[in-house]
Amino acid sequence: MTIPELDDVHPAWLPPEAFRAVGSRRTLVAGDGTLADTVRAEVAHACARHGGALDGPHDLVITLSPQEGLGDEDFVLSRQDGVTTVAAGGQAGLLYGFFAVVRLGEAAFEGERAAEHHRPALRRRMLDHWDNIDVHPVMGQVERGYAGGSIFWRDGVPHDDLTRVRAYGRLLAASGVNAVAINNVNVHATEARLLTDRLGEVAAIAGALRPYGIRVHLSVNFASPIALGGLPTADPLDAGVREWWARTTERVYAAIPDFGGYVVKADSEGQPGPFAYGRSHADGANTLADALAPYEGVVHWRAFVYDHRQDWRDRSTDRARAAHDHFAPLDGRFRDNAILQVKYGPMDFQVREPVSPVIAAMPGTRLAVEFQVTQEYTGQQRHVCYLGPLWSEVLGFRPWGPDGATVAGLAVNGGLVAVSNVGDDPYWTGHPLAQANLYAFGRLAWAPDLDPGAVLDEWIGLTFAATGDREPLRRALRELMDGSWHTYERYTAPLGVGFMVRPGHHYGPDVDGYEYTPWGTYHFADRDGVGVDRTRASGTGFTGQYPRPWSEVYESLADCPDELLLFFHHVPYEHVLRDGTTVIQHIYDTHFAGAEQAAGLREKWEKIDGLVAPDLHARVRERLDEQVRSAEEWRDQVNTYFLRKSGVPDAHGRRIH
Ligand code: GCU
Repeated sequence: MTIPELDDVHPAWLPPEAFRAVGSRRTLVAGDGTLADTVRAEVAHACARHGGALDGPHDLVITLSPQEGLGDEDFVLSRQDGVTTVAAGGQAGLLYGFFAVVRLGEAAFEGERAAEHHRPALRRRMLDHWDNIDVHPVMGQVERGYAGGSIFWRDGVPHDDLTRVRAYGRLLAASGVNAVAINNVNVHATEARLLTDRLGEVAAIAGALRPYGIRVHLSVNFASPIALGGLPTADPLDAGVREWWARTTERVYAAIPDFGGYVVKADSEGQPGPFAYGRSHADGANTLADALAPYEGVVHWRAFVYDHRQDWRDRSTDRARAAHDHFAPLDGRFRDNAILQVKYGPMDFQVREPVSPVIAAMPGTRLAVEFQVTQEYTGQQRHVCYLGPLWSEVLGFRPWGPDGATVAGLAVNGGLVAVSNVGDDPYWTGHPLAQANLYAFGRLAWAPDLDPGAVLDEWIGLTFAATGDREPLRRALRELMDGSWHTYERYTAPLGVGFMVRPGHHYGPDVDGYEYTPWGTYHFADRDGVGVDRTRASGTGFTGQYPRPWSEVYESLADCPDELLLFFHHVPYEHVLRDGTTVIQHIYDTHFAGAEQAAGLREKWEKIDGLVAPDLHARVRERLDEQVRSAEEWRDQVNTYFLRKSGVPDAHGRRIH
C-alpha cells in the first residue's frame, strides 16, 4: 500500500518531519492483517525518507500481543534496554501505538519507560460529515461547512481519486478517531439513495478509510421505505417496513462487511420521523437497530428533537426542555445497539450552554455526546476559536456533583461524536488553525482527561515539526489560541445568551434576528432586563430537568454561575454579578475587551511572521483581519442595542454608537 501524501494539500499534523524519530530507527512490525500492513507501510515510508530500516537489531518493536485485559484498540508502551515496544491487544492497537510513538518523537527513544497501558476512554469516536452529494440551493454542498466542498463528492459524483479520503483517514487515525458518518443528517433525495442504488459510493469510501481503522456510517432518511422502497408507509412497527429495513441493511453489509451503522435525524427541523405514525422514538430507533443487529451495527439516533414552529408569545414552550421531555420517558426502551446521540447543550452548539440534562437522564440507554467541530456558532472558521477547553469542560462536568460520574464517563458505551470541519480546502479546514480543533476532538475522545493546552502543544509540535526551534512558535500559538474561545464568547454572547446571530447563515451579530421567529431561541431583552426565566419558581421549569445539585444551583439566582446567568434567569440590567459589576456594565466591558483582544490576536500573529510557511501565514492573517472587523461589529451592535434598550450609560464613558 502507498501512504497517502498530497502535494497540493497541507499535511496538517502529519508532515514528513513528524516521522523523523521513527523513520530514522530500525523497527520490527509483527502481525498480520490490514492494519498491521498499514503500520508496516507507514514505517517503511518513514524509513525510506529518514534513513531507518525494517530489519536488523531493533530500536522499536510494534507487535501484536493479545492478552487478557487488552482490548483490540489498546496497546502497552514501554522501553527497556534500548528498545521501545508497542504491544498491541489487536490490530487497531498497532495503529494507535504507532501513532503514539510518532507523537512522542525522540522522547519515545530516550531512557527507560515503565509499561503504560493506553486504551481509549470512549469506544466510538466519530466524525459526522454534513456533506451533500449535490450542491444544496441554500446550504451549499457541505451544510455548515466552512472549508470548501466535500472531500467525498464533486459535481454530483464521487471524486474519482480517493487519495484525499485516505489521507483524511490517516489524519483521523493519528488523532484517535475510528468512525466517520459521511453524509448530512438532513438527508435529501439524492443522498437518500446512498443506502440503495448508490451504495457502491459508500463502499468505495469505506475502502479508502479501512486501512486506517475507520468505519463508515451513513445518515439515512427515516422515510426511506416510502421514498426508496415504494411502500405506502414508514411506520416503524409495520411488518413490511421492518422487512424493508432488514433487507436493505443486509445488502449494505454484503457490500461493506465492516459497515458501522446508521445515523438518524428524525422529527427534527422538518425531517420525517415516527411521530407521523403515533410511534415513539424508541419504536423508530429499535426498528433500525433490529435491522442492524445481526451484523453488530449500531444506529445513532439523534435527540435533537424540538418544535421549530414556536410562537414567541407562548412563554411556556421552551426549546431547551424539548430533548429531555421527549427522551427521558423513553429511558430503558432502546435496544442495546441503539445509541442516543445528544448535543452537549440543550439548545444548539452555542458558545456557552449548560450541559444537556438528557445526559443524566438516561441511565438505561447508551449515550453518545455530540460536539460541533465545524464552527457554525463559533466564528465559522474565519475566527480563531480553539474549542478544546469548551469540550474539556463539558466532558469533565459531573451532573450529580463532585462525587458523581462525568459526562465522558456517561458516554463510555456510546461514544463521542462531532460534526466535522473538513472540506476540500487546501488547509482542510479553511482556517489553518482550525485544524487544531479537529485534532483535539480525536485526542479528547480517546482521553477526555487530557489537558486541552497539552493537546494544543502536541498539535503544534507535530504540525510545525519542521520548524527548528519550536519554542517561540509554541509560545506564540499558545498565547493566540488558549483563550480564544473565551475571547469569542466575550465579543459575542454575554452570560449564556445565545443566538444573537444573523438568521439562516448564523454569521455575525443580529441581536433580534431570531427574537420574534418560530425557532424558540429567545433572549427576551426589554427595557428592564434580559435573559430567559427557566426556573421552576416562575419560568419554564427547565432547571427541574437536572438532578441535584445542579437543579438547585441553576434555580437559585444567587448560586447560578454568572456565565450561565441569562440562560437560566431573566434579570434587571442592574443585577450585580459576583465580581461586583452589573449585567449591563458586564455586557459593555466584555464587548470592548473582546474586540480589543481580537485585535491583539492579529498583533501576535504578525510576530509569528517568518516562523511558519508564508502561504499559511497569509491565510491566517486574512482571516484575522476579518475576525477583527467582525469583533468590532459585534461589539458595536450588541453594546448599542443594550444601551438603547436599557438607557444605562457605560460607567467608563466609552463611545457606544
Ligand atoms: C443546527 C444547524 C443545522 C443542522 C442542525 C442539526 O440547527 O444549523 O444546519 O441541520 O443543527 O444538528 O441537525
